[in-house]
Amino acid sequence: MPRLAYVNGRYVQHGAAAVHIEDRGYQFSDGIYEVVTIVNRRMVDEGPHLDRLERSLSEIEIPMPMTRNVLRMVMRELVRRNSVENGLLYMQITRGVSPRDHKFPDPPCTPSVVMTTRKANFAGHSKFSDGVKVVTVPDIRWQRCDIKTISLLPNCIGKTTAARAGAYEGWQVDADGHVTEGTSSNAWIITKDGKLVTRAATHDILNGITRMTILRIAKEEGIEFEERAFTVEEAQNAREAFTSSATSFATPVVQIDDAIIGNGHPGTISTRILESYMAYCTGDAAPEDDHDAASA
Ligand code: PDD
Repeated sequence: MPRLAYVNGRYVQHGAAAVHIEDRGYQFSDGIYEVVTIVNRRMVDEGPHLDRLERSLSEIEIPMPMTRNVLRMVMRELVRRNSVENGLLYMQITRGVSPRDHKFPDPPCTPSVVMTTRKANFAGHSKFSDGVKVVTVPDIRWQRCDIKTISLLPNCIGKTTAARAGAYEGWQVDADGHVTEGTSSNAWIITKDGKLVTRAATHDILNGITRMTILRIAKEEGIEFEERAFTVEEAQNAREAFTSSATSFATPVVQIDDAIIGNGHPGTISTRILESYMAYCTGDAAPEDDHDAASA
């Protein structure tokens, strides 16, 4: 079956999908994106992803290209046409096409919208049962990491450094020696007294949708948590650690640089959070959708 992409109002063959060479996304990274997990044909946390998309757009003065309901219809139609049971939806909105000039065009140009899907099997992946290694890399990004911009070169550099060191992820470290987040995930530790810790959602990190859902799960399950910065040393001496995103869920971390975390196997609290998050993805996404559809 052909794989389709959505490009500015049309469903086109993935391999033939193209954008204009003067799209500001291509020339200036002037745009934002979202990655949404699809589990059993349903988009996990669709509403919160759309909330963050709208926020990212408004922070850089790009208008919503279509209403939220139409956007949601296109997302669902692409998932349907591509028969995605489990996988990911990638959605990118850029400021649009305009002759190359750094300043935002005035009057504004029409935003470009591109969506693709990818099939993936999440269940039973060895990273969940065995855990992964992360390495620390310097955080060389800008001061608005809360915006989900497509400008990801520092993240790509960090992820490449991690991959070359045989690691799954790079945890970025700020000038004060504190971990901000992964190159494409949020960083978590569990202290010796069983407290969940992740960096507060300021301009220093992207406020992950998975992060927010995990915090809600922790609250519901009575797991104490703190949103604060932690050093690399504190992380290396933590009882457990994990890293979260739409693509990694809550992947247990068993090594940070040369330090083995706990006994080198996924810890009990991380495993419990991963299981609860998985259960949420497979079963509990509907109320969110329904609520969101009703209020849009
Ligand atoms: N990345 N921090 C960064 C820098 C990220 O790029 C991501 C997600 C996250 C986690 O956000 P969420 O839980 O909403 O996926 C945190 C996506 C998956 C990506 O770039 O592919």
